[in-house]
Amino acid sequence: MLMQVETRALKSPTSGTGLTVTDITEQASRLEAFDRHERIWLGRDENRGLTAIVAIHDTRLGPALGGTRVWPHESFDAALTDALRLSRGMTYKAAVANLPLGGGKAVIWADPATDKTPELLDAYAEMLMQLDGQYYTAEDVGLSLADADYLRERTRNVSGTTIGGSGNPSPVTAHGVYLGLKATFAFRSGHENLSGVRIAVQGLGSVGWALCERLHADGAKLIVSDIDENRVAKAVATFGAEAVNTDEILSVDADIFAPCALGAVLSAETIPSLGAKIVAGAANNQLAKHDDARLLMQLGVLYAPDYVLNAGGLINVAGELDPEGYDRDRVLTSLREIPATLMAIFERAEKLGRPTNDVAQEIAEERLARN
Ligand code: NAI
Repeated sequence: MLMQVETRALKSPTSGTGLTVTDITEQASRLEAFDRHERIWLGRDENRGLTAIVAIHDTRLGPALGGTRVWPHESFDAALTDALRLSRGMTYKAAVANLPLGGGKAVIWADPATDKTPELLDAYAEMLMQLDGQYYTAEDVGLSLADADYLRERTRNVSGTTIGGSGNPSPVTAHGVYLGLKATFAFRSGHENLSGVRIAVQGLGSVGWALCERLHADGAKLIVSDIDENRVAKAVATFGAEAVNTDEILSVDADIFAPCALGAVLSAETIPSLGAKIVAGAANNQLAKHDDARLLMQLGVLYAPDYVLNAGGLINVAGELDPEGYDRDRVLTSLREIPATLMAIFERAEKLGRPTNDVAQEIAEERLARN
């Protein structure tokens, strides 16, 4: 059920279209996931089937940027909670990546398979126009590159598009992960040479595969797993990789474990069986719980915080908002922030004997507080 909302319209609804955009910050503040968010907007258009929440968490560093998730959550409050949590995460991700951007995220409460009509996207584009300058969106679960392009044809408040120039972010994400993985390895071993280093890669999708290409070129010995057997067979043929079952990849004897598939792979149950002493991969939300990083530290595992390592996707999308236009070379240069930030995190974590994800959060907070 849609909760009751106060009707404080942002602007008059666009004439005749049926869209209303209302400020629901006060109502959202009653939910546990609310964390001093600056503004929560609700966009509704019954005729065109739109119920969209735009959560703007923090704009101290710049306008809020974050993807739009299209998902049929079980209730409106569940959709709102998701938007609140994800937008907060974007604030930290942008801050730790040293980007002049704030944190935001949107959720369209709908089933992407059946409800995502052109009319719904038209109504959502109008909502984005009404929020002009406060929030920029991009792809996320349920919103494809084609959808982002469709929105971009209607409003400039969309990034991560073909039209804007950045397109598919995966190769850039993979390159950032590669740079960060090398820096993490170097922090432990004193050198960056990956020749002969055993790297267990979980997931051979867009990012995992592009990462393997780079690691293979550096002479690393790849151990791979994926639920898709064709991808595994291709990796064996292309990279001379060793294939293991999906339930073995975590514990296989390796120097580095690179999770590039699912979230929550590192938990109190799985961490003790980890075969590697370094974790550096692309997957979002690798830790089942924030405190699992402490267990990794206690067991002598160096953990590269996921949102620091996989920030290349966000850096790429941010490149589209550059006043001079998207420039791939400039974006690739910005990726150097990733190893630099990781070094700062590892050094402070080691000095203070603290988990790396705690220190990452602290560095993000320091950057936010400077503004
Ligand atoms: P993808 O969907 O292209 O690839 C995921 C791969 O993991 C697929 O090949 C899938 O078959 C495999 N997989 C699923 N379950 C598995 C399991 N139990 N064991 C082994 N493999 C399994 O996704 P993509 O884009 O490569 O993203 C990978 C991870 O990186 C995700 O967690 C994503 O959230 C994160 N990420 C991706 C970014 C991007 O630019 N694509 C940006 C930032 C984070």
